[in-house]
Amino acid sequence: MSGNLRTDQFFNLKYHIKTFGCQMNKHDSERIAGMLESLGALPVETIEESDLVVFMTCCVREAADIRLIGQVSSMKNIPLRKGSPVSKRIIAIGGCIGQRDGQKLLDDLDHVDVVFGTNNLASLPSLLDSAINDHERLAETVEESTMFPTELPTVREHQWAAWLPITIGCNNFCTYCIVPYVRGREKSRPFEDVVKEAQSYVAAGVKEITLLGQNVNSYGRDLYGKPRFADMLEAVAETGIERIRFATSHPKDLTDEVIEKFATLPNLMPALHLPAQAGSNRVLKAMHRVYTIEHYRELVAKLREACPGIALSTDIIVGFPGETEEDFEDTYQLVKDMGYSQVFTFIYSKREGTPAAKMVDNTPRSVIQERFDRLREVVEKGAYDYNQASLGKTLPVLIEGYSKKEQSILTGRSPENITVHVAAPEGSNAHECVGKILDVSIDEAKTWYLRGHFDNA
Ligand code: 5AD
Ligand code: SF4
Repeated sequence: MSGNLRTDQFFNLKYHIKTFGCQMNKHDSERIAGMLESLGALPVETIEESDLVVFMTCCVREAADIRLIGQVSSMKNIPLRKGSPVSKRIIAIGGCIGQRDGQKLLDDLDHVDVVFGTNNLASLPSLLDSAINDHERLAETVEESTMFPTELPTVREHQWAAWLPITIGCNNFCTYCIVPYVRGREKSRPFEDVVKEAQSYVAAGVKEITLLGQNVNSYGRDLYGKPRFADMLEAVAETGIERIRFATSHPKDLTDEVIEKFATLPNLMPALHLPAQAGSNRVLKAMHRVYTIEHYRELVAKLREACPGIALSTDIIVGFPGETEEDFEDTYQLVKDMGYSQVFTFIYSKREGTPAAKMVDNTPRSVIQERFDRLREVVEKGAYDYNQASLGKTLPVLIEGYSKKEQSILTGRSPENITVHVAAPEGSNAHECVGKILDVSIDEAKTWYLRGHFDNA
């Protein structure tokens, strides 16, 4: 992949990547790390130590936009490290804001060197080459992707877990959402390519694969023979991988075949993120979600029948334009009824260029905040109640590392994707637990985590 690059400048160049937003961005960052390291660059933990900073950005909500501009602006005050091979720290902006704003970012922020989009990760080395060697400031974004980032080298954050994108882009055009405009039309990756990559992860000792896409359930509609997502799950399960997860699912495309896989594939983990967005049919219609709340509830009933104890999580937007007290009550009731293990709640954020940005939006901010706070209470109660069911059980936990707060505590994930803390075994071999699936008996169940002990400890 080094092609015509003047690679000397990359050798020992210290890079730092700051990633915002979704799992797709996290995955793209792993590919960027892979490309940079294959050219000889080295990762560093802080901006201060770096010669190159790459921002992987998100513009789904306004807060992320504002934060990015603040962070990039503050880079001016961070001096370049002594002995750096570059004359100024190179700053690159990629991801969704890079795609949306392109050249404008270079015009507005005179210390930014490179802007790239969501569809041309592979161009980053040559853009950086021009910045480093020729002091050129370049923005490159393309409308359509020509390749999947999975064709690029990678440095995975965890050796035992891999993200595996199966689709990119989105065709749904929910009226509040900017993603279809910055990630482009939905495109499925060839079936065989996905399966081969999954096989290579199994051979490399990976324990958990997460299939990724803005809407994984519509996988394959643009491919010859129209393979279905349920077939993909089956094929990935056959590789023998220990744990499969997938995100995100759109309720309108979640088929009975996929639901059935939760009953029949032992390595498909009992956890599903199924964004509802709202509990009111009027709001769902205005959001262009294309399902009714009755249909959503029916899906959940079928999921619970196929897989009792499944951990369901969701996304909810509070304060969509025109949301009435009655609409909100429907959402509140939905969250109360569903027994979610986790709910990601968002206050509606107006995104220019989306249909919702033109809708009448006159609910006072204080009313929306009050609804949001009320919803959070029921979300937390739901998560707490969900976790109580694990008390006294022994769960296989994939150990991810040490707890950030206490070095003597290991932390990992249950099959239901709940965080589990467990005291590290006595002696010095605690690090050997990392990346393994170990049985943990659960003695404590809190809102956001479980605590337990190793069965044989
Ligand atoms: N305002 C608030 N939340 C949004 N989301 C997407 N667009 C917006 C917006 N304009 C939320 C949705 C989506 C999640 C990733 O972000 O709930 O599922
Ligand atoms: Fe956005 Fe809707 Fe597509 Fe999800 S399905 S990325 S919310 S447009």
